[in-house]
Amino acid sequence: MRNKRLPSFGTANLIKKSKETHPLTWRLNKEGNTIWLKEYIKKDGYLAIKRTLKELTPEEVIKQIKSSGLKGRGGAGFITGIKWSLTNKKNVKTFLLCNADEMEPNTYKDRLLLEQEPHLLIEGMIIAAYANNSNKGYIFIRGEYIDAINIINIAIKEARNKNFLGKNILKSDFSFDIFIHSGAGRYICGEETALINSLEGYRANPRNKPPFPGQIGVWGKPTVVNNVETLCNIPSIITNGVNWYHKLCLPGSEDNGTKLMGFSGKLKNPGLWELPMGITAMEIFEDYAFGMINGYKLKAWQPGGASTGILLPQHLKVQMCSNGILKLGTRIGTAILLAIDNTIKIVSFLKNIEKFFYRESCGWCSPCREGLPWIVNILKNLENNKGKYKDIDILIDLTRQLTNGKTFCGHGPGAAEPLISAIKYFRNEFDKLMV
Ligand SMILES: Cc1cc2nc3c(=O)[nH]c(=O)nc-3n(C[C@H](O)[C@H](O)[C@H](O)COP(=O)(O)O)c2cc1C
Ligand code: SF4
Repeated sequence: MRNKRLPSFGTANLIKKSKETHPLTWRLNKEGNTIWLKEYIKKDGYLAIKRTLKELTPEEVIKQIKSSGLKGRGGAGFITGIKWSLTNKKNVKTFLLCNADEMEPNTYKDRLLLEQEPHLLIEGMIIAAYANNSNKGYIFIRGEYIDAINIINIAIKEARNKNFLGKNILKSDFSFDIFIHSGAGRYICGEETALINSLEGYRANPRNKPPFPGQIGVWGKPTVVNNVETLCNIPSIITNGVNWYHKLCLPGSEDNGTKLMGFSGKLKNPGLWELPMGITAMEIFEDYAFGMINGYKLKAWQPGGASTGILLPQHLKVQMCSNGILKLGTRIGTAILLAIDNTIKIVSFLKNIEKFFYRESCGWCSPCREGLPWIVNILKNLENNKGKYKDIDILIDLTRQLTNGKTFCGHGPGAAEPLISAIKYFRNEFDKLMV
């Protein structure tokens, strides 16, 4: 059965888009159809790889991506050019992995790019592979993304037929090909080292870092892992240059470029839009999502997926960029915002989120394996009016065991973040459920 299609771009369809202002989405149509090879080429597609292979050395590509300041769009926000420059590629072939696991609840940005702009991703991967001395790339894709898997498969065949993939690409001495690996539906597979284990056929536990994948990654070889959206940014940076890229964001933002941002919940116009880094959450709420549906009020919101903090309506004036959101003690994450309305009880909301994190824990380290089910039990008891006087102290203590450095990977701290902020801003809702 076909997956339900993503709603295409909501109000963004009404906004005039150009390749200068919307490098990720200017080619898309309002029907949400895939941009296949013919149309992609007609709309400047594969110009960046032609230029790269003709004019740039791998070192020059890395220099350009580094100067652009592009940060990874997978959630951690590491500077892409630095990651590439730290990858060991001296006399050794590397692997390129595209992380298309996208299982963060309330996140659907990579799906749009995979389904509608497959050649933009392929072109970004070819350039990344050229820069990092890689002949083989894998797209590790969420198993439920059936349409996306089919579409990418067809696009890869199209690209091979025109020699954008394969041996001696466009008569150069560079060869590269892409293979798809679909996941079996575990959130932890999105963590880059668990992804590598899974690709190798092992249980998806995260690996020790260091060594980082750039030193020892898949099958013991240096490996670059990048998110779908990160890779989709590469072609336009090569074509339009670093200065252009720097000008895309708004004043005050330390993140450059544009970003796919969305807003979901009981909103008049929920959707997904390509927006400049540094836009305020209030602008997205009012000008793109058109505010709450009549009869609902905004009670709280999350800036970028289930593993980011819960914020209040007065925080909407914050700029959507990592330095802006950091001031509120949380992360921009995937930049898909969620509106929590006045009918939702914070304790019940959290119970659902934490249940997800508990189920998705790989069980490798005890604070996460033991702590998350304990948290879920307490939240369930509170929800059923069976809370005890000490519950809030236990919850606070459990979140302290889940901070960075106390767990083996970022899953535990991510699970703690919404709970810590909920206790900070909605303590009264917990207190009144304790006897
Ligand atoms: C529990 C967990 C889940 C993650 N899931 C994803 C994911 O679905 N997609 C993704 O790109 N990055 C995910 N990440 C981040 C990756 O580990 C890694 O930082 C990212 O793929 C690097 O790409 P980027 O530098 O282009 O952002 C996850 C991290 C953690 C800790
Ligand atoms: S924090 Fe959780 S998901 Fe990460 S290694 Fe530990 S048990 Fe596994």
